[in-house]
Amino acid sequence: MKKIKTTFFCQGCGYQSPKWLGKCPSCNGWNTFVEEEIRDTDASAAGELRFSEAAQSIDAIVVDEGQRLVTGIAEIDRVLGGGIVSGSAVLVGGDPGIGKSTLLLQVMQRLASQGRKVLYVSGEESAKQIKLRGKRLGASSPDLLILVEISLESILQQITELKPDAVVIDSIQTVYSSALSSAPGSVGQVREAAERLILTAKKSGIPVFLVGHVTKDGSIAGPKVLEHMVDTVLYFEGDSGHAYRIIRGMKNRYGPTNEIGVFEMHDTGLTEVSNPSALFLSERPQGAAGSVVVPSVEGTRPILVEIQSLVSPTNFGMPRRTAIGVDGNRVSLLVAVMDKVCGLHLGNHDIFLNVAGGIKVEEPAIDLGIVSSLASSFLDRPIDAGTVCFGEVGLTGEVRGISQMEVRIKEAARMGFNRCIIPKTSTREVHLGDASNNIKLIKIKSLRELLDHLF
Ligand SMILES: Nc1ncnc2c1ncn2[C@@H]1O[C@H](COP(=O)(O)OP(=O)(O)OP(=O)(O)O)[C@@H](O)[C@H]1O
Ligand SMILES: [Mg+2]
Repeated sequence: MKKIKTTFFCQGCGYQSPKWLGKCPSCNGWNTFVEEEIRDTDASAAGELRFSEAAQSIDAIVVDEGQRLVTGIAEIDRVLGGGIVSGSAVLVGGDPGIGKSTLLLQVMQRLASQGRKVLYVSGEESAKQIKLRGKRLGASSPDLLILVEISLESILQQITELKPDAVVIDSIQTVYSSALSSAPGSVGQVREAAERLILTAKKSGIPVFLVGHVTKDGSIAGPKVLEHMVDTVLYFEGDSGHAYRIIRGMKNRYGPTNEIGVFEMHDTGLTEVSNPSALFLSERPQGAAGSVVVPSVEGTRPILVEIQSLVSPTNFGMPRRTAIGVDGNRVSLLVAVMDKVCGLHLGNHDIFLNVAGGIKVEEPAIDLGIVSSLASSFLDRPIDAGTVCFGEVGLTGEVRGISQMEVRIKEAARMGFNRCIIPKTSTREVHLGDASNNIKLIKIKSLRELLDHLF
């Protein structure tokens, strides 16, 4: 009899070890190792799944343009880079209850209403529960097929038989292959299921959407390789205190990454927010110190966000530094630069910084906004309400140029701002066209000049 080979997998990150370990050397998780069977490559179905085509010249490969399936939901189409690429695998991750199933059911409904046959496979809910949600979302179409199934083999068989135009697997953690003895949701099962679904997608040209659960720390459960295997990784994020949801492209082989789509959750499902700047600025306080607006670019689209800060003297020995929505280390660095260059000594002050609306901004363009907001709160002087600013700040206090300056300035002008503090650079000229009449540009080279123009 053939010996079954097993190995130990970390359930957190997919690290493999021939013997059991208490602590994972890769992700440092405790007690995460589970023994799982490993499949012999030749004994597996891999042979049947492998691409068995001969090498060919790139000139000889024919593709027809316009192979993208356009859903008609503009926010999704843009995040995907202009529609769903045929044969692509899209992983959608997000916190429990954020609306992953809702979003994908809506996307499938849109495709079905265009006369395409789509298959929605659920391993989490019964057909009746999906129907109930569908009723709420207005999803009804003879071309929207619902399959409640967790067996990988049956799902693959149904895909081959039905030949749908798109497939949703909700969720990849529930899919179970009888070829492996480990439990559904374990690393081996998730990897096996994803591998075979992705290969089926590539061979048949049917795009698949995989819903992935996230772990406590916010990464997609199962091995990191899952993210490498798929073509596109989308994270669905949101704040329990707000009705809006953001879908963010973390990886995209066929489009720009970091692109975001903004939605609002209603009882009739997710509706698109086509003007997110207005949403994020809607509750902006007037004439309050510590508030400033920064045009940030997410992917290809500019979004105006409001940075708020509160600087107050420390009552206890250690000053508190709290930053929400921006990198805390970046804030500490900028505080040190302000101390040295501008003579604003925030060392014995508590600092609380927040990007209003719960959105996260990671690009360095926000540096100048952080400094302005801190200075405004520290000096207790409100920044002119019509002013926006952006730019990267270097360690010597110089203000550096950043990408896509025109896009940012135009968005600020469109939203009614009339002054923009920007980096003075010789390499990147700003050509605004018509928008230049409505907005005044103030170019600064160093933080020293900032305070003269802010108030
Ligand atoms: N009647 C309703 N009115 C408004 N919002 C609703 C209503 N019913 C559900 N929702 C929203 O839908 C969300 C659940 O959506 P959904 O089931 O798609 O989430 P999910 O990400 O698939 O969750 P899970 O990880 O559990 O599968 C709820 O958190 C709630 O915000
Ligand atoms: Mg769900």
